[in-house]
Amino acid sequence: MTTAPAPSQPPAAGPARLGIAELRRRKDRGQRFAVLTSYDQITAGIFESAGIDVLLVGDSAANNVLGYPDTISVTVDELLPLVRAVVRGTSRALVIADLPFGSYQLSPQQALETSLRFMKESGAQAVKFEGGVAVAQHARTVVEAGIPVVGHVGFTPQSVHGLGGYRVQGRGDDADRVINDALALQSAGVFAIVLEMVPADLAKQITAELSIPTIGVGAGADCDAQVLVWTDMAGFGNGHTPKFVKPYADLRGVLLDAATRYRDDVVSGSYPDADHSYT
Ligand code: KIV
Repeated sequence: MTTAPAPSQPPAAGPARLGIAELRRRKDRGQRFAVLTSYDQITAGIFESAGIDVLLVGDSAANNVLGYPDTISVTVDELLPLVRAVVRGTSRALVIADLPFGSYQLSPQQALETSLRFMKESGAQAVKFEGGVAVAQHARTVVEAGIPVVGHVGFTPQSVHGLGGYRVQGRGDDADRVINDALALQSAGVFAIVLEMVPADLAKQITAELSIPTIGVGAGADCDAQVLVWTDMAGFGNGHTPKFVKPYADLRGVLLDAATRYRDDVVSGSYPDADHSYT
């Protein structure tokens, strides 16, 4: 583990936040819930106001905030301040911190050490990490230390090179592998499992077999919850959009238009005008 600089105080994380037992109750009631990623205080507050009460500070911050080509390079020290910001920007949401590549795979002990860091230094209420059977013991160790864990199976972006690219997982004979991964994590005590890029029928089967909620991303309509990377949801995409992404706005277009008009007004001298100046 890298030596951390003196940790800054995590923001207060009070009991008013959504608890993991409520998510289990929602599954039992057949009440679906929406999850979004968030990486900063402003969007976190907006999403909470919109009724998104589970926020994931995904390692997708790597390519959505920090400019990396994928999620391989991002570090614990880079993600911690983003988790803190999301916790500070909310008061009721359950905030989940994603453990980055290389910060948990080495051993259950490493997974616990990294999870403890996120819990103590960020104020998150839970952690998530990728993998199935291979990290089930890691999950068990973290859960037994009192830290709620979310699993993540199917397509696992941190293994993009091992998986041979961005591919749907669990087709045909490969389905059993994904089912076994999900069952191993449930046995290890995780409270929810992300199913990423798996056939809708397989996700439906896993959702029916598990007693904990499934959170789908590219996994069809029958999961207990859905998650999207918020920049995809809001239409910030700039290139290939995966089939499962539905943009609910064109924020790239809106922001481009606003910044262009602002630039034009400054250059032409029409901003600031008298209405936006002090007498
Ligand atoms: O990092 C992330 O954004 C994720 C979600 C896509 C589940 O892991």
